[in-house]
Amino acid sequence: MRCSGGREMNRREVLGEGWKWLRLAVAAALLYPLLRFLGFKVPRKPRRVEVHKSLKVTGFIIEHEFIIFDGAKGPWAVSRKCTHLGCRLNYREKEHILLCPCHQSRFSPQGRRLAGPAQRNLPTFPVAALHEGEDKGYVVTL
Ligand code: FES
Repeated sequence: MRCSGGREMNRREVLGEGWKWLRLAVAAALLYPLLRFLGFKVPRKPRRVEVHKSLKVTGFIIEHEFIIFDGAKGPWAVSRKCTHLGCRLNYREKEHILLCPCHQSRFSPQGRRLAGPAQRNLPTFPVAALHEGEDKGYVVTL
């Protein structure tokens, strides 16, 4: 067997080289499950939040964590946590935008990023009527 310099390797060098590769393979085999364990995330359980308000008056309901909007396809909820650094968004009714008070990122009521330093859209959450066919409240699944 030849080494990288073109000279013949003796038996001791070949075994030493093989031993080095075997140690690397064992280290990788031991580290792989450990790294998988450290990177494992337990999926969060969905949380149901009941809102006992009507959308009929204003067309939207502002809660601490989200805003519910009413549309032609039914209600939807959008997060109030800015995707830039997490400030709580305010809804500007006249402009129909969600505005971040910290660095002025703007989002549409559907959660789409319009401007500002935030790079991602806002998460949206499913909304269901509290009592089927009535406008007495909603259940938002976060
Ligand atoms: S935290 Fe909202 S734009 Fe920076």
